[in-house]
Amino acid sequence: MCGIVGYIGEKNAQQIIVEGLRKLEYRGYDSAGVAVWTGTELLLDKAEGRLAVLEERLRQKPLSGSLGIGHTRWATHGKPSDENAHPHTDQSGAFAVVHNGIIENYLAIKEELLAKGYTFKSETDTEVIAHLLADMYDGDLVSTVKRAVQRMRGAYALGIMSAHEPDKLVAVRLASPLIVGVGSGENFIGSDIPAILEHTRDVYILNEGEMAVLTRSGVELLSVESGERIERELFHVEWDLVQAEKGGYDSFMLKEIFEQPQAVRDTIGPRIDEANKRVVLPELKMSDEELASFDRIYIVACGTSMHAGLVGKELIEKLTRVPVEVAIASEFRYRDPIVTPRTLMIVISQSGETADTLAALREAKQKGVKVLAITNVVGSSVSREADEVLFTWAGPEVAVASTKAYTSQVVVLYLFGLYLAQAKGTQTTEQIAEVVEQLQQLPAKITAVLQDTDGVRRFAESIKDVTSLFFIGRGLDYAVSLEGSLKLKEISYIHSEAYAAGELKHGTLALIEEDVPVIALVTQPDLYDKMISNIVEVKARGARVLGFAQEGDTELAKTVDQVVHIPATLPFLSPVLTVIPLQLLAYYASVARGNDVDKPRNLAKSVTVE
Ligand code: F6R
Repeated sequence: MCGIVGYIGEKNAQQIIVEGLRKLEYRGYDSAGVAVWTGTELLLDKAEGRLAVLEERLRQKPLSGSLGIGHTRWATHGKPSDENAHPHTDQSGAFAVVHNGIIENYLAIKEELLAKGYTFKSETDTEVIAHLLADMYDGDLVSTVKRAVQRMRGAYALGIMSAHEPDKLVAVRLASPLIVGVGSGENFIGSDIPAILEHTRDVYILNEGEMAVLTRSGVELLSVESGERIERELFHVEWDLVQAEKGGYDSFMLKEIFEQPQAVRDTIGPRIDEANKRVVLPELKMSDEELASFDRIYIVACGTSMHAGLVGKELIEKLTRVPVEVAIASEFRYRDPIVTPRTLMIVISQSGETADTLAALREAKQKGVKVLAITNVVGSSVSREADEVLFTWAGPEVAVASTKAYTSQVVVLYLFGLYLAQAKGTQTTEQIAEVVEQLQQLPAKITAVLQDTDGVRRFAESIKDVTSLFFIGRGLDYAVSLEGSLKLKEISYIHSEAYAAGELKHGTLALIEEDVPVIALVTQPDLYDKMISNIVEVKARGARVLGFAQEGDTELAKTVDQVVHIPATLPFLSPVLTVIPLQLLAYYASVARGNDVDKPRNLAKSVTVE
């Protein structure tokens, strides 16, 4: 995820900013840059690659001054490169901007600015902001920023400085995190607390729609919309640096679980045509005709990404009636899959570097198959080698156990399924609009799930000493069970198996005996009665059952020992919600057993060997 640091005071801005950026390295990035007001001009340097590359350049040609902004970029619009690195400036070089997040309507603003004769040096949405500020500047930086921001839709955090008013640093927050550090005769901005912790522990945490104007002697908080001053108590940070990197959470995994509303919102955000409630995927190069011509889809991936693919299979088939086969990459690469010119392959990979997935992609391309990649890392091998790419905007995932990448992958699959349905005409405009509306409500519903975790925590603590347990479900619930089971295995080391509930009686039921925990997912109305029968089967053998049902369900509680409710949504969107308590279950079980949640034994974050 991108990082922002800004400084205004009396000290060496470049040094403070680069040190701050180093504290944000754990978030992942692919380029870095700094802009400083030297007293006479606004100068900047930026470079693709590690911070050390930028540092070497700055060592040779330092930027000296006491006002500046810096950035580490995790590529979104445009590949990792010197040109696309932040800060970005306008044509005259008077405005410098660093930016986290996404400006959804940047293309419309860019076209307007192009028509006025502005020229662009990068592929980023951020550069648009610098030109827009220059275009709108009326002699007052604060009022210009306010008016410019009101034109920008999206989720973002900004740090802005201008050669016209080199006594100010302006920060704006809309959905992406941003804080202001308050010092004595100096003030700071940061996208995260570790960036400034060395200099001050007193911070203002900006809320959505707020801006901060920093001078050397003070900080003013304002509402972007009304321009009114906001009074806020300073927050005194008690965390040490490691705690601060985890945002105050006990582990990166927990932090990433709690980042899911944001990850899903960012992934959906720019891909909806609000006026018509349809999906738009401008990043796809293929035409609707080509898209509509596919008559068979393979989804190929490993582990959690493959589990996202299993959800994708169900929903793409439901929306488009195109047959979808999900394959484990390490299997797919050695078989001789049946492909035709009308076959589409979708590879899913958080890291974009998984060896088996990459090999399967290459194998398919050799056979002339069109490959669409879903990945979280811009510039990754998978993103470079695939014909088409849809990025998940989940931000870097640090914990080995994948959480926010999974939900974001599933969301991209919904978007793609809807888009394919639009191209093929297999769903009506009204049907598409209904799913789109429900999709947009998911971030708020994930937040609701995350606010009520007691039931799951209690159950997790109760299983900490068991040696084996089972997950059961049907249809989409079975697909989610597989992911719940994998998560539990990998971080708690408790053996578990996920079973299609109807399959239990063909053998595995022999393992169900007194007090064996069974986790039953029951969110699909069409399969409800069948699931109840399967739960009764395991209860009759003494199983202790935790059931998951949609809000409003009062029946399940009569059959199981404990129920966890998830917010009501369209049944076929429920995987995005049901998986959250399963991630938490694995997390709490792992903590209860005293394991290192972020670094489970024998596992690596990115499996780049076969
Ligand atoms: C499990 C997990 C792994 C990965 C798998 C594929 O929590 O993270 O199962 O999903 O190794 O990795 P990517 O998605 O990077 O290809």
